[in-house]
Amino acid sequence: MRKQIVAGNWKMNNDLDASKSLVKKIAKGIKKEKLKKTRVIVAPTFVSLAKVADKAKGTKVEVAAQNMHFEKSGAFTGEISADMLKSVGVEIVILGHSERREYFGETDEILAKKVDTALANKMEVIFCFGEVLEDRKSENHFKVVESQIKNGLFHLEANAWKNIVLAYEPVWAIGTGETASPEQAQEMHAFIRKIVADKYNAEVAENVSILYGGSVKPSNAKEIFSKEDVDGGLIGGAALNADDFLALVKSF
Ligand code: G3P
Repeated sequence: MRKQIVAGNWKMNNDLDASKSLVKKIAKGIKKEKLKKTRVIVAPTFVSLAKVADKAKGTKVEVAAQNMHFEKSGAFTGEISADMLKSVGVEIVILGHSERREYFGETDEILAKKVDTALANKMEVIFCFGEVLEDRKSENHFKVVESQIKNGLFHLEANAWKNIVLAYEPVWAIGTGETASPEQAQEMHAFIRKIVADKYNAEVAENVSILYGGSVKPSNAKEIFSKEDVDGGLIGGAALNADDFLALVKSF
């Protein structure tokens, strides 16, 4: 049975004090509401990762990194390895976010290597992909999404998919307030589940959680999350406010 997940990608926001305060508010809110069914994940910056992971210990909040290098160690100034993440208790990593693809030149090949390193270190991967506006306007969006998934993940064996979470994030909806409609989200998520089933089998496809990301807010989450193939969200802006984020966690 695939899990419902609400994951907050804090991006380059919150210093250490703000990060500790936000994760404490989220943990307290979940405990009060007894939110059992949904996995709740927060992804702070590297500066706060260890402290946030400490604060999250013993709560329902899980902690993810926003990125990771594929090498074990070495002369990679500014980078962070899987071992370093695991040394502070972080075993989930977001890979392939459009901002890393766009601003930091992360290609499908680099991302496939990062996925392999994460899985080899028994980490869980939230793998992001999505089309830009031009692709959608030219009706290329299915082809683009299929290519990103194939090039990043289809080299994996079926059993590796138990540690994969998919996150469809149409780039034109990220940070724009221009959310994909629930119907657009469902159409793409159903397509994604089908290409996974065609490549592997029905069990792998049925068990993989597919999150939607792109301007999810308390006002639109319920309808988007109600769709059959939408298993939750990868949240940016709304994740930075505890009340908004908790409202999303309650939106199923
Ligand atoms: O990774 C989630 C993010 O890209 C979505 O951002 O601000 O549109 O919710 P936002």
